[in-house]
Amino acid sequence: MSSKRDVSEKTGKSGERQEVVRTRFAPAARHFAERAREQAPWIRERATRLLAPLRGDERALDAGTGAGALALGLAPLVGEVVGCDIVPELLAEARKLAVDLPNVSFVEGDIFALPFETGSFDIAGTIRTLHHLEHPEKAIPELMRVLRPNGRLLVIDQLAPLDPPRAMEIDRFERARDPSHARTLSDQDMRGLFDMNGLTLLRQEVVSELRDVERFLDGAGCEGEERERVKCLAPGETFTVEVGWYVLERPV
Ligand SMILES: C[S@@+](CC[C@H](N)C(=O)[O-])C[C@H]1O[C@@H](n2cnc3c(N)ncnc32)[C@H](O)[C@@H]1O
Repeated sequence: MSSKRDVSEKTGKSGERQEVVRTRFAPAARHFAERAREQAPWIRERATRLLAPLRGDERALDAGTGAGALALGLAPLVGEVVGCDIVPELLAEARKLAVDLPNVSFVEGDIFALPFETGSFDIAGTIRTLHHLEHPEKAIPELMRVLRPNGRLLVIDQLAPLDPPRAMEIDRFERARDPSHARTLSDQDMRGLFDMNGLTLLRQEVVSELRDVERFLDGAGCEGEERERVKCLAPGETFTVEVGWYVLERPV
């Protein structure tokens, strides 16, 4: 008898979705590389505080790594980091950035079916990726599968406003600028996902980030008439978003 997962794989839906993601991110690989290089130091600073205490010999995963922002941030803090993504062009940029970091590697792989052994990581992280997934609720158990018992899950993503009309407005703008955007989760949604999977919340921080629409649209490769249309949906020329950082412990 087929499992639920077999059935959804046979529909080809996940393949179509991956194609949408590849079409959006492959041409933007250089942009993501610049951003990863720029952001790795402050990601490291916050991760050091949130993941403390670290022994320094941990094996860490960055799922949906893109050009490796989180992987590069974690590299000096742990024994080994593996970044995984479904877009080869992003992984190629990530490898260039990590050329002098012998403890970092990148492999192609889907967050819903990670190409790793059960229980093989001490830390599993994902940054700015859940909002690209149509079913983030299926990614959490898969990240937990590759974590050892009591391993730590680090989830970082933009949070939806609690006010539903405002959350819809943000999602409409995000989808217009980026067709691979699925849905921004609220803090409540995140906590619901964590509770449902028996994860214990160890630490949480919410950080305000200022977004500049022009730079944001550059990153999405949004040009010409489309750019003008998307700009009309933006909350302003600059706007602030809340980003949630969650550290959770996987049960035994
Ligand atoms: C906004 S980017 C964030 C990249 C990187 N984490 C960062 O913060 O710079 C979203 C990433 O999710 C990846 N992604 C989307 N769906 C995925 C999937 N099913 N499995 C693995 N990665 C996926 C995309 O390829 C892309 O690299």
